[in-house]
Amino acid sequence: MIKLDIIKTAPFVSAETINALAPRVVEAQNALEAGTCPGNDFLGWLHLPSSITPAFLADIKATAAALREECDAVVVAGIGGSYLGAKAVIEALSNSFQWLLADGKAPVILFAGNNIGEDYLSELTAYLRGKRFGVINISKSGTTTETALAFRLLKKQCEEQRGKDVAKRVIVAITDAKRGAARTCADKEGYKSYVIPDNVGGRFSVLTPVGLLPIAVAGFDIDALVRGAQDMEKTAAAPFAENPAAQYAATRYALYMAGKKIEILANYQPKLHFMAEWWKQLFGESEGKDGKGIYPASVDLTTDLHSMGQWIQEGERTIFETVISVEKAEHTLLFPCDEENLDGLNFLAGKRVDEVNKMAELGTQLAHVDGGVPNIRIAIERLDAYHLGQLIYFFEKACGIHCQLLGVNAFNQPGVEAYKKNMFALLGKPGYEKETEAIKNRLK
Ligand code: PA5
Repeated sequence: MIKLDIIKTAPFVSAETINALAPRVVEAQNALEAGTCPGNDFLGWLHLPSSITPAFLADIKATAAALREECDAVVVAGIGGSYLGAKAVIEALSNSFQWLLADGKAPVILFAGNNIGEDYLSELTAYLRGKRFGVINISKSGTTTETALAFRLLKKQCEEQRGKDVAKRVIVAITDAKRGAARTCADKEGYKSYVIPDNVGGRFSVLTPVGLLPIAVAGFDIDALVRGAQDMEKTAAAPFAENPAAQYAATRYALYMAGKKIEILANYQPKLHFMAEWWKQLFGESEGKDGKGIYPASVDLTTDLHSMGQWIQEGERTIFETVISVEKAEHTLLFPCDEENLDGLNFLAGKRVDEVNKMAELGTQLAHVDGGVPNIRIAIERLDAYHLGQLIYFFEKACGIHCQLLGVNAFNQPGVEAYKKNMFALLGKPGYEKETEAIKNRLK
């Protein structure tokens, strides 16, 4: 089970301050359970893990197996919550050099629909030319411009290259049960489709088909992922003293109240880069509203110690750091001995590389604490599907609780509309005539 260590926040917020928040955390948990919190029509994630049945997982695995059989590449089209969870888990579990190792036995998983880069899309479609590819089109609203653009391109190319009949088999839609262009298109074309439950918002949807199907297509163990989340669902319902999600939420809140406005999620495994991207969306979009919210940032260490390390050590003291630490490496590699010892590093010869990494982690934490940066450590035993499942639900629950402490609606994202309104006005979308005129006057 995930271990939470908050001891290195003690110089900044006392244990008494954190423990004094316990009644408010319990209140927050009760509000989530009773559905009395703001945004209570989006609480489907709360007991999602325990509601997942073996039959449902079997169906996802069967679809994944069919795609694996018929495709050399599968493009996952989606943005925000409709992409980051799958991307995070697939990256965390894949070989770091998966691109170079592709042996044609399993499809390459690609992502699109998360940007409007003409070069990106041109290069993607060029790469797919002549390939046996399939598409998983993921959009809850079914109207997101980035995803819709990618899907238009990919659908057309897939049909042209593989014929309409095969395209029908290798395009899968994951969308709303009834509404939106993606649903209409899936029903009309007869695609296999999955429903994103009404009461699960995008950034809480990784344990629905949104995350599970791409992860299964990539060949990873979704049973273990769900089992990890189920176990954490139980742990995260425990009383405050034994509940790491509740304690993490309380510690973040105490630090925020003490003026620590930015949380930096640090990892010491490059494979966790996209877990941090997923985490940033989860917390950023959930709590950044009404002029409140901790700004979620991230670094990959030790890499970024050589870029952001200076700022973290000595910049403005409004930050705290949360380290995700993976206890056991999957491989064994020893620091080599070198006869000449020009770099003076022979004292490390014979040690596990992971031991050196762990000492870098501990040394950095201590240095950052000395520099005025409170440190939280979240340890997972291994980087596998089971522990990632735990981590996902742990963060979701902590996020739900923390938003109640802040007094914000965790489950909406009204601010995301502002850029869309301007973009559509600038592009002259029908129905936006007044906005188009106003924005043109503004830019004169
Ligand atoms: O968390 C969210 O709700 C958002 O990030 C959405 O997932 C994102 O905007 C994509 O929306 P949709 O799935 O409707 O295309």
